[in-house]
Amino acid sequence: MNATTGPNAAKVSGMGEREPAIRVTLLPRDTNPHGTIFGGVILAYIDQAGAVVAHQHGAARVVTVAMDKVVFHAPVYVGDLVSFYGELVRIGRTSITVKVTVEAAPLGAPGEGRRVTEAVITYVNVDRYGVPTPIPRVTGDSPPPETRETS
Ligand SMILES: CC(C)(COP(=O)(O)OP(=O)(O)OC[C@H]1O[C@@H](n2cnc3c(N)ncnc32)[C@H](O)[C@@H]1OP(=O)(O)O)[C@@H](O)C(=O)NCCC(=O)NCCS
Repeated sequence: MNATTGPNAAKVSGMGEREPAIRVTLLPRDTNPHGTIFGGVILAYIDQAGAVVAHQHGAARVVTVAMDKVVFHAPVYVGDLVSFYGELVRIGRTSITVKVTVEAAPLGAPGEGRRVTEAVITYVNVDRYGVPTPIPRVTGDSPPPETRETS
């Protein structure tokens, strides 16, 4: 049984229609002792993907302050094409929260994609000294006003 057919596999349709923040193919060096992809590797990419989205929404230099509940729904296999999709959750004064959803598909078989992981990450925009600094507003790409606090 594999993740495509396993009980935890959530088939996804339309992979490739949205633009992922990051898309990678994982290698044998990324595996755990069981031969599937090490969760820490996925977490590192989730962190990077969320940061890409934070930058798209105006943050200049971010550090990760919190990674909320991470759920691994299904394993990722060597050779899978893994896509990390980011979605803005909230922009505060200096912080920005992003939900990252991870989908994997065997290379060359996008129709067999399945959702494997999701996480919510909060970043803080900092200056060169690591001090929190306000996130500039991005024109035309702002979340609803009630979720945004600007100074
Ligand atoms: C991120 C860091 C600069 C924040 O410093 P701080 O003194 O807590 O800053 P503040 O209290 O002014 O909070 C800054 C923002 O972070 C938010 N924040 C702080 N701790 C948080 C947490 N645990 N979860 C979510 N948001 C948090 C605050 O709500 C605030 O957001 P806002 O300005 O949008 O309202 C500091 O904690 C830090 O340097 N942490 C290490 C970051 C790092 O190195 N990450 C890489 C992993 S090793």
